[in-house]
Amino acid sequence: MVVYLVGAGPGDPELITLKAVNALKNADVVLYDKLANDEILKYAKDAKFIYVGKQAGKHYKRQDEINEILVNEAKENDVVVRLKGGDPFVFGRGGEEMLALFKEGIEFKLIPGVTSAIGVPTTIGLPVTHRGVSTSVTLVTGHEDPTKNEKQVKWDFTADTIVILMGIGNIAENTAEIMKYKDPDTPVCVIENGTMENQRIVTGTLKDITEKEINPPALVVIGHVVDLFKEINKEV
Ligand SMILES: C[S@@+](CC[C@H](N)C(=O)[O-])C[C@H]1O[C@@H](n2cnc3c(N)ncnc32)[C@H](O)[C@@H]1O
Repeated sequence: MVVYLVGAGPGDPELITLKAVNALKNADVVLYDKLANDEILKYAKDAKFIYVGKQAGKHYKRQDEINEILVNEAKENDVVVRLKGGDPFVFGRGGEEMLALFKEGIEFKLIPGVTSAIGVPTTIGLPVTHRGVSTSVTLVTGHEDPTKNEKQVKWDFTADTIVILMGIGNIAENTAEIMKYKDPDTPVCVIENGTMENQRIVTGTLKDITEKEINPPALVVIGHVVDLFKEINKEV
């Protein structure tokens, strides 16, 4: 028994790694969340598929339930693939699943994926670092678990570029917090459904981005690197 914790990339099915494809080809069981593109499941021709993502109108599985399914499937099968969007360790709860497997003494292998946080900006010509413009990047969640006793995100980041994931629902509150520390005219780029056919890009500044129509799933990129994107995409 071995479990592969695998990143599926941000959406475009060609952005999955060869290593991930090979793991899928050998899989007896595949546990997957809602992926931006289900096309990659085709590599696991003979596998049993278990969907553990959100389903409208149904109870969706808590993390401890997913961990339990993963451990049980690992005990009953030779090769289990746990597939997650982007990279499993970037806001993917892959670390929790790795620990659950470790505690049960189950062998696991880790296959990174192209994280949307960096891969999606790259595909549109928005480098998250750039000589002379940005020497540092912060990746942050825009949606902290509301059951936490105290908020961990303070928004006083000093990085030149900030990339917010899960950032649309709270964009007004979060940009207001960031404006306490950064110039309200700092450029912002929001990328919806990055690398997919329905990709949409919206630009603005910290002070006006909330006036624009934006829908999840999307990334919010904040910083002067956005000017580089605007330079090569005059119409956006
Ligand atoms: C639960 S996090 C998972 C991130 C994933 N593990 C990764 O590395 O990309 C989900 C968030 O990632 C971002 N995201 C994932 N795929 C995206 C895409 N194709 N386009 C834009 N944002 C995306 C959105 O902010 C979304 O709310």
